[in-house]
Amino acid sequence: MSAVDTMSHFEVKPIRTFDVALEVPGDKSMSHRAAMIAGLASGTSKITGFLPSEDCVNTLGAMQACGVECQVLEELPEFGPVAMEIEGRSMKLSPSLRPIDCGNSGTGMRLLAGLFAGQDFSTELFGDASLSGRPMGRIIRPLGEMGARIEALGAKEGCAPLKISPGELEPISYVLPMASAQVKSAVLLAGLFCQGVTEVVQPALTRDHTERMFEAFGVKVGTDETGLRITLEGGQVPKAREFHVPGDISSAAFWVVAAAARPGAKLVIRRVGLNPTRTAILDAIERMGATVIRRPAADIQGEPYGEIEVHGAHLKGTDLLPEEIPNLIDEIPVLAVAAALAEGTTRIRHARELRVKETDRVATTVTNLRAMGAQVEEFDDGMEIVGGRPLKGAEMDSFGDHRIAMAFAIAGLFADGPSRILNTECVRTSYPGFDHHLAAVCREATEETDYQLPTRAPQA
Ligand code: S3P
Repeated sequence: MSAVDTMSHFEVKPIRTFDVALEVPGDKSMSHRAAMIAGLASGTSKITGFLPSEDCVNTLGAMQACGVECQVLEELPEFGPVAMEIEGRSMKLSPSLRPIDCGNSGTGMRLLAGLFAGQDFSTELFGDASLSGRPMGRIIRPLGEMGARIEALGAKEGCAPLKISPGELEPISYVLPMASAQVKSAVLLAGLFCQGVTEVVQPALTRDHTERMFEAFGVKVGTDETGLRITLEGGQVPKAREFHVPGDISSAAFWVVAAAARPGAKLVIRRVGLNPTRTAILDAIERMGATVIRRPAADIQGEPYGEIEVHGAHLKGTDLLPEEIPNLIDEIPVLAVAAALAEGTTRIRHARELRVKETDRVATTVTNLRAMGAQVEEFDDGMEIVGGRPLKGAEMDSFGDHRIAMAFAIAGLFADGPSRILNTECVRTSYPGFDHHLAAVCREATEETDYQLPTRAPQA
């Protein structure tokens, strides 16, 4: 039996050494925004490094359903486009013939709602069972204040499907009740269609890819010195350009933990995004005792990227700071795995938002940590983990959540015996090729390696 079975579950065996160099696929947050902003722009944009995952392919499909032409230049077979030319529609899309499927993606649905709110036709957005249970009131309220007409038609109150009818949009000043880049971005996208200045004030810094990508496409965005207050003058039309999406630091995080928690291990990840609103995971791992060397490349297109090198250590527990939480929210499942491997206590609090992700990630992370014998206490807003006990190999569910599947595949590399992660198809939503990377790491754990995401399907 191979170390990793790639059907719909992962069989993971513990490894003893780790010396790996790899590139991870393109950033998910940036890929969503690139498809949307290039589709709204005037002129033809060339996007490279696009993440060909289900979530981003659905967003691109939504734009295509509304008349955006896309010519694929390079594809990852069985997944989707990696490089393409997108012919922008100068802000005016045409109605989709059918409801638009956002799949599993909260980012896709919430940002598209902001974008479609400004169109002069009706659109219906729907998603899978997980997305149909996630709160949409958080975007319906501010977009409604702007004059958008959005109905939540789901069986669960305030949830998808969403019906968006045309409305005259007015700019607002909106104080975000939660630190959410998705809500901020939905309001800013709708703000493009208003006359006047839209303002968003966030309670903590959240990822700023929308602001950076707007600027890269020639749309001026104002940010005050705290970074918390963002303003946008409506009526600006993005101008087409070439944009390269760097690797996703949230995908890199799995390998960062795989290296960081193993004394003597070494990891190099090339061409990964190093946007400072996304790198708190590296700060936390450093505080836990691993060495992280960052080699930033010249800042391209407003999105910093570069190489990171990680050297493993005997980790110790840490307390996550409240202001760090939005900055590493997607990395918490794998950080919790690092915490279980670290001596002492790690406190992850102020993270209630984790409960409304693809799964309730407080519950799913705690369930799987306990299955592996870790000591963890669950709180309404997070968890406390007392680490240092050896992890037991276990059979665990992904619960249909890509980040839970990958986090516990990494945990399995440190267990006292084999582990099995069930329902791993969901990994397609963010990390095509994870199974190949995992198999390569397991197979060649003791050799000098240089892995690249295969651009062709592996031969049977
Ligand atoms: C994202 C923002 C975050 C994050 C999500 C992607 C984005 O969500 O969890 O995976 O691309 O804007 P919130 O902004 O809702 O916290």
